[in-house]
Amino acid sequence: MTQLQGIRACVFDAYGTIFDFASAAARCPDIPDDKRAALTATWRDKQLQYTWLRSLQGRYADFWQVTGEALDFALDSLGIATPALRQRLMDLYGTLSAFPEVADTLRRLREAGFVTAILSNGSPAMLDAAVRGAGLHGLLDAVLSADAVKVFKTHPRVYEYGLQQLGLAADQVSFQSSNAWDAFAASDFGMRVVWCNRYGQRRECLPGSPDHEIRSLAELPALLQAPGAPADDRAAR
Ligand code: LAC
Repeated sequence: MTQLQGIRACVFDAYGTIFDFASAAARCPDIPDDKRAALTATWRDKQLQYTWLRSLQGRYADFWQVTGEALDFALDSLGIATPALRQRLMDLYGTLSAFPEVADTLRRLREAGFVTAILSNGSPAMLDAAVRGAGLHGLLDAVLSADAVKVFKTHPRVYEYGLQQLGLAADQVSFQSSNAWDAFAASDFGMRVVWCNRYGQRRECLPGSPDHEIRSLAELPALLQAPGAPADDRAAR
């Protein structure tokens, strides 16, 4: 196993990578048990499709709105749409659970000298609520939202924005995503990429090639050579 070298920052996708989007429906007793998995899958699929379609059409709306519109589609398609259920699920989406290994992994990375950050399609308010709700606010140096550039991943402007904010070159960043499409796009953009393939997704037939594939973020620290740079060197950049 070859460690990635020259990495200064570990940048994470949010939904599906740090936060478990399935935890919204899982914590909602009002959904019939036989529809819970379908709701989660359709909600997520539509949420992603709408980000790509809106980006293609030049019709940006923030991720909270897109998430709500995707939920409307999903509830309607399953024949369970009510205003109360919509509200309940959106409230739950605002405070998703983090995957169990996340806090400890972030702690280990920071102890090793890495900068830690999120780069997500999520709107600033929803990312802030999710990060605080999961108790991760003290473990992240930056929480960066695509909302700043008004387009969604996989548009290169989003990855570029992440680099600008961190003051780093693409090959100084290890980007982690559980979304294959995001992992391949960040790799094509030039970042080093560790694909945290929690969902056992197939490789995409798209540009890009992730450097490593893991199943849990707990495997990440061992893949990265620690910067070994003193704190004042990082601050001087
Ligand atoms: C994110 C979603 C798309 O950007 O997973 O966090």
